Amino acid sequence: MSQTWWRGAAIYQVYLRSFADGNGDGAGDLAGLRSHLPYLKDLGIDAIWLNPWYPSPMADGGYDVADYRDIEPVFGTLAEAERFIEEAHELGIKVIIDVVPNHSSTESAWFKEALANPAARDRFWFADEPLNDWQSIFGGSAWTQVPDGQWYLHLFDPGQPDFNWNNPEVHQEFEDVLRFWFDRGVDGVRIDSAALLIKSDTAYEDLDEVHDVYRRWREVADEYDERILIGEVWLPDQERFARYLRPDELHTAFNFDFLSCAWDPADLRRSIDLTLATHTPIGAPPTWVLANHDVTRPVTRYGRADTSFAHGGALHGTPTDLELGYRRARAAALLAMALPGSVYVYQGEELGLPEVEDLPDEVRQDPMYARSGGTNPGRDGCRIPLPWSGDEPPFGFGTGAGTGAGAARPWLPQPESWRKLTAEAQRTDLGSMLNLYRTALSLRRELLGDGTLTWLPSGEKVLAFTRDSGLTCVTNLGAEPVPLPAGEVLLASGPLVDGLLPSDTTAWLAQRS
Ligand code: NOJ
Repeated sequence: MSQTWWRGAAIYQVYLRSFADGNGDGAGDLAGLRSHLPYLKDLGIDAIWLNPWYPSPMADGGYDVADYRDIEPVFGTLAEAERFIEEAHELGIKVIIDVVPNHSSTESAWFKEALANPAARDRFWFADEPLNDWQSIFGGSAWTQVPDGQWYLHLFDPGQPDFNWNNPEVHQEFEDVLRFWFDRGVDGVRIDSAALLIKSDTAYEDLDEVHDVYRRWREVADEYDERILIGEVWLPDQERFARYLRPDELHTAFNFDFLSCAWDPADLRRSIDLTLATHTPIGAPPTWVLANHDVTRPVTRYGRADTSFAHGGALHGTPTDLELGYRRARAAALLAMALPGSVYVYQGEELGLPEVEDLPDEVRQDPMYARSGGTNPGRDGCRIPLPWSGDEPPFGFGTGAGTGAGAARPWLPQPESWRKLTAEAQRTDLGSMLNLYRTALSLRRELLGDGTLTWLPSGEKVLAFTRDSGLTCVTNLGAEPVPLPAGEVLLASGPLVDGLLPSDTTAWLAQRS
């Protein structure tokens, strides 16, 4: 791969707990992931991004990290993580891990020390009384009281105390953590809640000093060969967003504007143009994201009257046409994969999994559900263990010795209806979502990736552009079928009708020379 492998990469997101269970205890793990590396190779991805895999009490699915220098025992061991990195590299797959610099875990050594000794509280935000009326992003107050009467700040769950980035030890610790994992061969780091680290008395979003942190991190990354920093930066102001991607800061950042778009030609076109206008002047490649472990799955989202995504708007029970959503999700995937830059695929997206909306309340684990008093269903519905094979749950999710009659049930229940969506069922079905992703990723590797695009004239309900390689992408978001430009159709998200591109369908064409 080139010096800049990340600029046009297809990155597959692994939510480890729900990917594959190698020891039959009901939770996904490194053994399960390692046994499915050939599947990922065959899918045609360039890199894997794993959500946090460190020891954690799981107050927020692992985003409450207790120890950065080890692996959560449910997932495996440090030695297994090192083997996994080697095995992925042998297959030509890069490995990206998650770090969470905004907050820690109440089970971390530093927080336990702070609880035991009030003189050791400066690495966090402790005060005699709440310093402001900030609300936790998951609901409720952002301040929690400890037994001796002081309060600490947590922008998320009480299990996630915020770090105080005014303390130099916090800076040193994270630079050491980066080196710890870069030394073990990790190729990149996804930075959680990247814009929230620095706090003033009245604000915490996107304060200028945060950029000093990332300039320093960039120096650390540049001590190594081809290591990248990816920001989780939710900022509507594109000028502010672009500051994170200056040449001496992060390499890329997630494009949440695109992810939040409605299935609407004007909104998508606006977002694509805005994204390119933001990234081109600073020379950073855009990213294209349709799904992740925090958002309603596209098959469900696109089947609703309101197809956009907004946090807190994930209200279950909304009427949903899953067939329509599925068709649009296929079209959206080809659109996203044809755009210049890198693309993310969230596990299960390639299987066309819908959101699971009817989970019994007692199995829900996302703190967003509990802290909103049940008014927000939370994110468990997009984190259901993957269906790999077979006709009934657990659909081959458990692949290890513990499977069979004695195996534990997956940590979240899978719907019976997923028998049609297993990777095994889709492998031999040429029209499946899995095969659409495989073919698209393979063509993308040959013809797309980094570069620019040129819009083609089209009706207002149609998005049509060509790429440097000559590949043309046309998406019809209108109700009526439309003619395609001249060229050989290489791939389409649904069948053409009398040579026309139907509603909610994308086609890729090669120009005739
Ligand atoms: C963003 C992560 O993607 C999400 O899952 C997590 O709950 C918050 N940051 C807090 O770490």
